[in-house]
Amino acid sequence: TQLWTDALAQDAVPDEDVTAVEVQGRELAFYGVGGQVYATDNICTHGHARLSDGFLEGSEIECPLHQGKFDVCSGKAMCAPLTVDLRTYPVKIENGRVYVDLG
Ligand code: FES
Repeated sequence: TQLWTDALAQDAVPDEDVTAVEVQGRELAFYGVGGQVYATDNICTHGHARLSDGFLEGSEIECPLHQGKFDVCSGKAMCAPLTVDLRTYPVKIENGRVYVDLG
């Protein structure tokens, strides 16, 4: 069963960009990609950098610290120096709100 947590307004997720929100003490990043919303951890798996300070191009977020790239839909680490994938979270939109399943 899924446990949905209200995270933010759908309007607060920028198109083709990223925003950070703390949800139940966890720092998450929300991305607007092609009209869909995706959620991942906001802290890079390589070092202590915030992906919300990085650069989103298509579905790839570039870490601001060493320019590692993750696919925000799958969490997959796409290039060096990243070796560990990023955790992603299921998202649903209901009545203009974005909900995440923190699992
Ligand atoms: Fe993100 Fe190094 S901290 S690539």
